[in-house]
Amino acid sequence: MKHHRGLTVLAFAGVLAAGLSAAAQQASQTASHDPEESQQAERGKQLYAERCSHCHGFNMVSAGDVTFDLRTFPRDQRERFFESVTNGKDRLMPPWGDVLSQDDIADIWAYVQSRGK
Ligand code: HEC
Repeated sequence: MKHHRGLTVLAFAGVLAAGLSAAAQQASQTASHDPEESQQAERGKQLYAERCSHCHGFNMVSAGDVTFDLRTFPRDQRERFFESVTNGKDRLMPPWGDVLSQDDIADIWAYVQSRGK
């Protein structure tokens, strides 16, 4: 279950959904006022914990020095976020384009927007 390479976006979403509580799932489907954004951030948080936290820090609190503190990532630079996450940066930040779908990255972006709150 470590690698989702080759799975469709839907399958991957299913794997993630299985990790969420059934109650939360149901609520999200029935409650129309439930902001989709917070659900996205919730999924992004899980992805972040799996894929990014060992470098970028628990709850996005960077251990310091080299690693970008994602809480300070400019909110108006969505393009740059997708570019850097998909293709990596400076050989320090690994590329995720073949591991994460664009939807996954969008979820993580939503989480980054939340500043870990
Ligand atoms: C192996 C450690 C490592 C992992 C894992 C990692 N990163 Fe990074 N990341 C870095 C480092 C180091 C930098 C700073 C790169 C630089 O600017 O030279 C960075 C930079 C970034 C940046 C800023 C790029 C920019 O445009 O300046 C973003 C956004 C980012 N990471 C997101 C993520 C996300 C999202 C994940 C999980 C999918 C992730 N990173 C996983 C090490 C990592």
